[in-house]
Amino acid sequence: MKKLIGPFSQVLTLAGLPLKGALEDEQLEIIENAGVSIDENGNIDEIKSFTSFVLADFDEVEQIKGEGVLIPGFVDCHTHICWGGNRARDYAMRVAGKPYLEIAKAGGGIQDSMRKTRAASEEELKEVTVSRANRHLSRGVTTIEVKSGYALDIDNELKMLRAIKSADQETKADLVSTCLAAHMKPKDFEGTSKEYLDRVLGVLLPAIKKENLSDRVDIFTEETAFNVEESAYYLAKAKEQGFEITVHADQFSTGGSKVAVEVGALSAEHLESSTDEEVKLLADSDTVATVLPGASLGLGMQYPPCRKLLDAGACLAIASDWNPGSAPMGDMLTQGALLGAMEKLSTAEVFAGMTFRSAKALNLMDRGQLEKGKLADMQMYPCEDYREILYNQGMLAPTRVWKKGK
Ligand code: NIG
Ligand code: FE
Repeated sequence: MKKLIGPFSQVLTLAGLPLKGALEDEQLEIIENAGVSIDENGNIDEIKSFTSFVLADFDEVEQIKGEGVLIPGFVDCHTHICWGGNRARDYAMRVAGKPYLEIAKAGGGIQDSMRKTRAASEEELKEVTVSRANRHLSRGVTTIEVKSGYALDIDNELKMLRAIKSADQETKADLVSTCLAAHMKPKDFEGTSKEYLDRVLGVLLPAIKKENLSDRVDIFTEETAFNVEESAYYLAKAKEQGFEITVHADQFSTGGSKVAVEVGALSAEHLESSTDEEVKLLADSDTVATVLPGASLGLGMQYPPCRKLLDAGACLAIASDWNPGSAPMGDMLTQGALLGAMEKLSTAEVFAGMTFRSAKALNLMDRGQLEKGKLADMQMYPCEDYREILYNQGMLAPTRVWKKGK
């Protein structure tokens, strides 16, 4: 079924922009009074002046009334939206001054979410994941990565990944799952960190492959979680089993992004503590530098060096990190807008970071730009000029969101 949608005051295609490096708004392609035609597979066919389309050529014409700016759907390449319970108590302690890592040592933090996630059923986890994914979708996020990593034993990690898989069948957003069993060694595991990782490598990852639950593996590289040597060992072995790699890197101390680049990871994510050395390393590599402003906001800490990363030539992706602990807000648009203001990013850099550059972190090259052959994953804002979107700092919501043209 061929479909035509329009007319839009502006279509901001993000087409033709490079994957890496700084961008200026003058580089943006803007098509005014435009229509978008979509083929039977939900891919974009053509974008041009609405009046130059012949309406009779289409099975369906979706008429847009009034002003509207169309941009690609957002790709959130880093979330933890499958979890049980909440951590409002941790948050209250943190804003009152107790450090995140200290709360974690005292039994709060990830171990607390672990207890609540283990206690939840697969059905309950599926439901909360669908509901968070749908909230994201209503805010224009059409592809969402979701990590396990709040269960930290074989059976419950599998439960989380099964819940994510069935959530993917229920929400219209695309969910991409990642195994984060290496988030932290659970308190009840009797053995060393290396022994824990060996158990994940020997038992969990083969089971994930067998059930086709995920093809991505993540680790939290930090002295309080898994150190650099343990991370390098684990990731190399996971890669040998055929998994794509991503790393929680340089959040509180450096080391993680070096491991990520050396193992050929798709992305190194967080980067709040990256120095000029890590900036150069990432810029000279094919590893995407993913930043998570929601974690800086949730923990009250510095933003990653985004300006430096872009100027050095890195591929900068922006994701929400939506999770119960460090990043409870989960609003990508608000976070991207605030990050841009604080780090002096162009509108082009913010939107690229939330669309095709974050799609690259998921190795999904079929989305994030509005051009022929790409998925018609799109969102429309009630305004005349694309600059009004970030200007409203999250308070201008999309009035329509399309997934594959629907
Ligand atoms: O990306 N840094 C490690 N993991 C998560 C937070 C997990 C939590 O606090 O529950 C993050 O920030
Ligand atoms: Fe995270």
